[in-house]
Amino acid sequence: MDFAQEMETARQMVETRLAEFFTGRGLEEAMRYSLLAGGKRIRPILTMKFCEAAGGTPEEALDFGCGVEMLHTYSLIHDDLPCMDNDDLRRGKPTNHKVYGECVATLAGDALQAAACQTVLSAAGPDTAAWRSALALAGRILAESAGVAGMCGGQYDDTIGDGKVVHTEAELTAINDRKTGALLRAACMMGVAAASGHRKVDDSCMDAAREYATNLGLAFQIRDDMLDVMGDAQEFGKPIGSDASNEKSTYVTILGLEACEERVLAYTKQAKDALGKGTWRKDPEFLRQLADSLALRRK
Ligand code: IPE
Ligand code: IPE
Ligand code: MG
Ligand code: MG
Ligand code: MG
Repeated sequence: MDFAQEMETARQMVETRLAEFFTGRGLEEAMRYSLLAGGKRIRPILTMKFCEAAGGTPEEALDFGCGVEMLHTYSLIHDDLPCMDNDDLRRGKPTNHKVYGECVATLAGDALQAAACQTVLSAAGPDTAAWRSALALAGRILAESAGVAGMCGGQYDDTIGDGKVVHTEAELTAINDRKTGALLRAACMMGVAAASGHRKVDDSCMDAAREYATNLGLAFQIRDDMLDVMGDAQEFGKPIGSDASNEKSTYVTILGLEACEERVLAYTKQAKDALGKGTWRKDPEFLRQLADSLALRRK
């Protein structure tokens, strides 16, 4: 299977599983609207591929990945609210609050966050101490990544300075590492955790997953900031110029597009190099190719 086919197979697994959740009406309909609106599904794909690299199957990690995707979708719904980035387009469709109103959008995000934890902690596996440890570990990784030390804390620092603060590169790196890096890191590490619920996994795999994701996350957010300036709204699925209209200090505003491109390539290289530090059961070539493809992404 070539890279594109392997991506598509993994993506379809995620779509099929996610479609099984929230089939009711009312609040469930609003949750489903954003969850199934499209999206690249990078995080659950990372979860499954790290599980495979550590010797597992994608199925073993599927619900961990779906949990991360639910949490990510919640973060997007709230990020788009008028009190945050105030955006009208997400995943090529009107944002959740544009369709359902701010009250329902807030609750849809809240409920997706809770569902994320529930999905991870009740993921099916063998009735063994090893699997119970994997569930607890994955739940802790996810909660940590979502909270004040992760995504929410990063979002706070990211938005609180809008129109007021010009960040240094080091400050932006710290913000991006939490607002975007934390959840990508959780996705990768939870894949290793899933594999470890079924077999012995070398400790070096968790460390390598952490380092890969940290660098991938920094590259990912710089690329996102670049596309907010030079992207095509239809392809990107989000409005162009959102950061400028919020007077946000980003990598693009402090360094310019050319230096941003250099940073993206440098972080991508560091991500790929980090994979070399793990003792894998399966060659993580797919994860190298994924990092390269994200560095050049247009959406
Ligand atoms: C968007 O994430 C938010 C950022 C962290 C930049 P993605 O670019 O992964 O969005 P989807 O899931 O594909 O819609
Ligand atoms: C926020 O970054 C990332 C999240 C934690 C949701 P952005 O505000 O740049 O994300 P987009 O561009 O709206 O997807
Ligand atoms: Mg934002
Ligand atoms: Mg935004
Ligand atoms: Mg953005």
